[in-house]
Amino acid sequence: MKKLHVLIISVLLIFGCAQEQKKTILEVEELLKEMTLEEKIGQLNLVTPGGGVLTGSVVSDNVEANLKKGNIGGLFGIYTPEKLRKIQELAMSTRLRIPLFFGADVIHGYKTIFPTPLALSSSWNMKLIKQTAQIAAKESTADGVNWNFSPMVDISRDPRWGRVVEGAGEDPYLGSQVAKAMVEGYQGEELSDKRTMMACVKHFALYGAPEAGRDYNSVDMSRIKMYNQYLPPYKAAIEAGAASVMSSFNDVDGIPATGNRFLLTELLREQWGFCGFIVSDYTSVNEMIAHGMGDLQDVSELALHAGLDMDMVGEGFLSTLKKSYDEGRVSEEEITQACRRILEAKYKLGLFEDPFRYIDESRPAKDILTKENREIARASARETFVLLKNDRNILPISKVATVALVGPLADNRADMLGAWTPTGDDKQPITVLEGFKNVAPQAKINYAKGTYISKEEAESEGADINTLIKEAVRAAQKSDVVIACVGESRSMSGEAASRTDLRLDENQRKMIHALVKTGKPVVLLTMSGRPIILTEEVNLPLSILQIWHAGVEAGNAIADVVFGDYVPSGKLTSTWARSVGQIPIYHSMKYTGRPVSEDNQTEPFRSRYQDEQNEPLFPFGFGLSYTSFEYSDITIDKKEIRQNESITVSVTVKNTGEYDAEEIVQLYLRDVVRTITPPRRQLKGFEKVLVAKGESKKVSITLDPDDLKFYNSVLDFVSEPGEFQVFMGGNSNAQLKETFKLK
Ligand code: GLC
Repeated sequence: MKKLHVLIISVLLIFGCAQEQKKTILEVEELLKEMTLEEKIGQLNLVTPGGGVLTGSVVSDNVEANLKKGNIGGLFGIYTPEKLRKIQELAMSTRLRIPLFFGADVIHGYKTIFPTPLALSSSWNMKLIKQTAQIAAKESTADGVNWNFSPMVDISRDPRWGRVVEGAGEDPYLGSQVAKAMVEGYQGEELSDKRTMMACVKHFALYGAPEAGRDYNSVDMSRIKMYNQYLPPYKAAIEAGAASVMSSFNDVDGIPATGNRFLLTELLREQWGFCGFIVSDYTSVNEMIAHGMGDLQDVSELALHAGLDMDMVGEGFLSTLKKSYDEGRVSEEEITQACRRILEAKYKLGLFEDPFRYIDESRPAKDILTKENREIARASARETFVLLKNDRNILPISKVATVALVGPLADNRADMLGAWTPTGDDKQPITVLEGFKNVAPQAKINYAKGTYISKEEAESEGADINTLIKEAVRAAQKSDVVIACVGESRSMSGEAASRTDLRLDENQRKMIHALVKTGKPVVLLTMSGRPIILTEEVNLPLSILQIWHAGVEAGNAIADVVFGDYVPSGKLTSTWARSVGQIPIYHSMKYTGRPVSEDNQTEPFRSRYQDEQNEPLFPFGFGLSYTSFEYSDITIDKKEIRQNESITVSVTVKNTGEYDAEEIVQLYLRDVVRTITPPRRQLKGFEKVLVAKGESKKVSITLDPDDLKFYNSVLDFVSEPGEFQVFMGGNSNAQLKETFKLK
């Protein structure tokens, strides 16, 4: 019965998907008829010849021999037209001359490295995010790459997990908008265009919710939480036309994602109608052995049955599928189906028409790291910075001030690139010190390192921290203002970078206290991949500007904001905790049956901690400006709607300060009574507007019928009649409220 079910589904999927790409299906079918079983299995093998990014314990060996035998469908982690031409020529020497595609991890830029994805999401500017993806595609394809292992859309509410840096934060609504923008940016209108490349949405699925925030750890989650809170960005990427999906390392409800038929076939293909191909993560097929799912042949069979099409680096498919076929454990149809999806992708890229389509030795000089691209990197970085505190309005500072520029990240180049930049060039970033000199040549800058990024680094250098801190204090004492660049190195977030202590390194904290003691105005420029714990610092008399890892134009963009050429507009897309003990913490949490009431925070037997507040240090959607904004006059165009009607909510935002500035107006929805417990509120709309000083602007956001829907206890996507509340303001604690009834 099972085999019949699989066959029926497979037939449906072929014709279901084929409808939209009839033109290529016939050519693929013709080619499949000529292929031997071994040649089909060869197409399912993705390898890396090393030299790219090492993310696991192995890199593929005997690549050239396998290429000549037709045992490889694609490579990743190798670049430049010169190298890829040689490799493609080897593929063209095989019996059927099936071209390869070439992948890479271009997570936030290729050579023009943009701010990290979590930083970019803090701009809330989808047009800008799409533009950075377009530039990444143009530069990548100039170097021969036509498949990008991006966007990473894993929702995460646990900053102990280092890979939170690669995504768009905690929220499914915002995360879905970012996912769509990036897929459209990479793939453009036509995949065969030489400046566009296949997206690969990852990591499917739920990789951002590992137990204890420890990378690669188990994920166990109700379907209700999955569908309502974690799956939407993957679905948005598929709806935007993502050509491929990457399975994740983690198990989901006891079955590793790479061998999880519910995820890869029932959900992705049958429910969402995904027509592209699915690639494993780096040896994630093999890693199902360690998960306890059997030997290499077992786990390769499990992955193929689940719906996986391509095996990254582990060569489990290459080394066991023929044997499994001979033993009747897998069918030729399954192997043919996987091969079909790979070949269809190659047709979409135009590789059968011209295998050297993306290999043009003249393009790198024209398209990579151009002045225009750097300008966009600078503009994008400016929009990602989040002003968390501006004590006594220290910021912006004068361009003729005497500035003590101190800290381990003040004259640091490589760390500006941030996590996951295997194609970046460490020599390219503008340091903060250089940016300050570029933007404020009249300023007198007293630089001091102050300390190292980490205690371990300091110890390995045999550093005398006290002397370094004294030098920073001396620089402060002879300056008008202190700018301290503190935070994480690029390797302290990203893959395999989980941490249990999210505070600044103890020597950095020691330096900050010494600087504050001088009595000079102090500004912290905090650089981190992830949300960090600044509870100690926020209580000091200082300003804090979160600048993430801002990419190749970091120094210039930072100086643009510090010296006031651009007013910071970024807002947090993750909730920032007061302490690790509060994690997971996010804006759309539930009320519980014993919520802490606003007017009685100490009432006993309520859902609270004995040793910490429930409230975060900084809420989702939070970010200050050099100006100030006042919200008033919230209105709603209907007090009652039917299921298929939209509703528009408006608010007036007034710029009551001294600077023209952008504000991200946010709309939150509360479904007061539901058949499954509703979140306190959740983001359902936003708009970034420029408001001149002294001016007011009316901002209207429309809720469509789907915005009121959720997946109920039987996973129907429904809205339920009853009262709704809407809030509009500058962060997730917005107080201006309106109500309406859904009939
Ligand atoms: C990894 C990462 C994945 C990346 C792949 C290839 O370990 O999990 O995000 O795309 O290897 O480098």
